[in-house]
Amino acid sequence: MADSKLESFFCFWIDIIINLFLIPELFSLFLCSKLTISMKKESFVSIADCTKEDILQLIKKAEFFEQHPDQKILEGKVCATLFFEPSTRTRLSFETAVNRLGGRIIGFTDAATTSSSKGEILKDTIKMVSNYADLIIMRHYLEGAARYAAEISNIPIINAGDGANQHPSQTMLDLYSIYKTQGTLENLHIAMVGDLKYGRTVHSLISGMSHFNPTFYLIAPEELRIPEIYKQFMDENNIPYYEYTDFSEEVINKSDILYMTRVQRERFTDLMEYEKVKNIYVLNNKMLSNSKDNLRILHPLPRVNEIAYDVDDNPKAYYFEQAKNGMFARQAIICEVLGIDYEH
Ligand code: CP
Repeated sequence: MADSKLESFFCFWIDIIINLFLIPELFSLFLCSKLTISMKKESFVSIADCTKEDILQLIKKAEFFEQHPDQKILEGKVCATLFFEPSTRTRLSFETAVNRLGGRIIGFTDAATTSSSKGEILKDTIKMVSNYADLIIMRHYLEGAARYAAEISNIPIINAGDGANQHPSQTMLDLYSIYKTQGTLENLHIAMVGDLKYGRTVHSLISGMSHFNPTFYLIAPEELRIPEIYKQFMDENNIPYYEYTDFSEEVINKSDILYMTRVQRERFTDLMEYEKVKNIYVLNNKMLSNSKDNLRILHPLPRVNEIAYDVDDNPKAYYFEQAKNGMFARQAIICEVLGIDYEH
């Protein structure tokens, strides 16, 4: 019995030593105790795929990156940003996140300059890029495009927005911003205003907040009401929600978070419909006079007319800081999908 234990002990260590010297990745892991590289590589397609623990863990990592944004932990990694739809914040903050972590970027911002303009299908583009890069960050105008890409790709996909469906990295930065400003994600009253029909950030945020016992006030014109599927989700998860067509101070005054959204011209097939609702709600400073001290105004941006400029100097306006938080939340997401855990 003692002999067989001894034999197992030697076999174990001989195996470790052989693996350490034959597999370079394991060897570098052995040398670099601060960096833990696991083999877990997963796509980040929908916030609905994240548990409460996943979300809290990502927030913890975002906090870490906010303190230490410059880390050389993506050295040797190539990240592709494929943007089939316009973007300012999402693309630039992802690219800044990669650059600050020492990785490199390839990609495009205008699909018209790529072979998709010659008729190349998404499947072939994803197959090609996954030959070149370690990670694909993709925005696409079609709902479900990110899930489809994740199924055919052999490298992780981060969904940077798919049509009116999901925008999970935006949700992570929204959750991080809410956590930073409120000190908790639990039991908050959140008013969401504007385009609740096509607003993918709204749809993702409902899903992300569902773990934290929220109450939602949903303010939208009839044409842009929250779709039934999200109401069904809130019913199934016992989340109280109240729908309004009026954007009143009464709702603002009972909210902890006021989440403003743009009416998105690009989602309308009939521009006459867009013209009817485009300026329906405009938040101005006066409307905030009796709001709670802890109220913070969030907006995924870009803003068009829905927040008057006089609100920008109100200490409750948080949308520019929120966009800055995006870089830290995205650093956390990139490391998560690549299976890189920086233990500080
Ligand atoms: N919030 C957001 O997705 O902004 P961009 O469209 O500029 O990326």
